[in-house]
Amino acid sequence: MTKISAAISAVGAYVPDYVLTNKVLETLVDTNDEWITSRTGIKERRILKDEGKGTSYLAIKSAQNLIEKSGVDPKEIDCVIVCTATPDMLVASTAVYTATQIGATNAFAYDLSAACSSFLYGMTTAATYIESGRFKKVLLIGADKMSSIINYKDRATCIIFGDGAGAVLFEPNTENLGYQDQLLRSDGIGRDFLKIEAGGSILPATHETLDNEQHYVYQDGKNVFKYAVSNMADVSEKIMKKNNLTHQDIAYLVPHQANKRIIDATANRVDLPSEKVMMNIQKYGNTTSATLPLLLADYEQQLKKGDKLIFAAFGGGFTWGSIYLKWAYNS
Ligand code: UT7
Repeated sequence: MTKISAAISAVGAYVPDYVLTNKVLETLVDTNDEWITSRTGIKERRILKDEGKGTSYLAIKSAQNLIEKSGVDPKEIDCVIVCTATPDMLVASTAVYTATQIGATNAFAYDLSAACSSFLYGMTTAATYIESGRFKKVLLIGADKMSSIINYKDRATCIIFGDGAGAVLFEPNTENLGYQDQLLRSDGIGRDFLKIEAGGSILPATHETLDNEQHYVYQDGKNVFKYAVSNMADVSEKIMKKNNLTHQDIAYLVPHQANKRIIDATANRVDLPSEKVMMNIQKYGNTTSATLPLLLADYEQQLKKGDKLIFAAFGGGFTWGSIYLKWAYNS
């Protein structure tokens, strides 16, 4: 019997129009373009300004872009997963609303949350559904409206994050292209380094938590940076070794876009030159769950059937990991 692998067969993306530049941030907090650029690699990020629009708006737009480009019939989609750290609402799933709005009326849908590693983990979930033979079309979306949880008076966080969404379709493949292997990790030691303290079940929102600004993202950047550098590089190196891959075999590293210095450290460890490292942090910042699919959308034209890609991510929790995937189509 032919082995079924899970391949990405289409990509879509969406970022809002409003551009928040380093220059504008200089007017909000005590920072400057030179510091932000040299410490993070970020020049600008996109922000969803429209009142009443949440993460589902971004998710829907990216999915509609995928549907338009690929011509897939939304009614044939079996499952919609929205990877996000900023759902529209608690309890009512963002993915369910997204699926209905894009016409995926025969799909079941749910959200998947693992901070900046959400999309990476979601790739494993989607691929496993396909490899098992149970489902034929899984739409995996990474979407975050980070501006909804950022304090624009906190220079430790507001310079980093942006809004955006990307979507990929996973389908069965009989040429052994697509998803190959993974190394996924997590460690609860990270819980206090990157979090939103209030609004969850431990500390429900009150007037006091609002006054204390505990509904915003808190990050101990130095510690997160330290863990991110060593762990993202580690898993990338290990998955390549495990699959007998050298830097010459790899077409691209597809790294989470949190800080250019973390990306460079990972690339150095696996000996990949900058032209083999996907990068768009300069224009989008850290879009959390959306970084990996936004990279695929930006580089789709350059990718060739059979290209070997190494994905890597690190995020709050801590959560991190690496995935080895073979690209399945020419654009
Ligand atoms: O995607 C989820 C995971 N998140 C990450 O991977 C993010 C990991 N962390 C980082 O990317 C970096 O730690 C940051 C970009 C957040 C901060 O960069 P850093 O090089 O670690 O800076 P730092 O916090 O060590 O601060 C260095 C100096 C400090 O001044 P002193 O004490 O040396 O005088 C800060 O007060 O830079 C100062 N500083 C700033 N200056 C201008 C901190 N933030 C800013 C700022 N503008 N925005």
